[in-house]
Amino acid sequence: MVLFGSSAPILVDINLILQYITLVLLVIGYVKRKPFKTHGNIMLSVLLITVATTILLMAPRLLITFDAYGIPIVAHAILGTVTILLGALFATRFILAIKNETPLQCGTKNWMRLALIMWIIPIFLGSMMYFALYM
Ligand code: HEM
Repeated sequence: MVLFGSSAPILVDINLILQYITLVLLVIGYVKRKPFKTHGNIMLSVLLITVATTILLMAPRLLITFDAYGIPIVAHAILGTVTILLGALFATRFILAIKNETPLQCGTKNWMRLALIMWIIPIFLGSMMYFALYM
């Protein structure tokens, strides 16, 4: 719509902006791995934004846009759901460790890196679909 001069509804543009805010936060969280508490808080905010935008914007749009996007949107939704669940696992461990005042070891380095890559793929896949449909 008005934001990018595309034919997308305004809420879709807002979703795109929010996903790129999470991308910036992901990069900051990756760079700022210590102290773990700061890193955890940054990644928790990424998870919360993504869960909120999924429930309020993306999941409802799935039915509306399925015919236009086809299989790629299903792949996007499945990968996105798995990624959110993985992020939720780390976040739960983080919150419990804070609560119980135990060491903040919420996942291994390899699993964290995998989650980061898994997070970035739906951002770019979603962006490509946005440009294909609305620009
Ligand atoms: C890590 C999780 C996810 C990320 C980073 C992500 C990212 C994005 C981005 C950047 C877009 C393009 C902007 C837009 O068109 O609104 C998008 C679109 C979309 N996403 Fe996601 N997404 C995620 C999870 C999901 C899930 C779980 C679902 C479905 C249950 C979903 C459904 C959609 C749909 C239907 C669109 C197209 C919206 C439209 O064009 O109207 N996404 N996503």
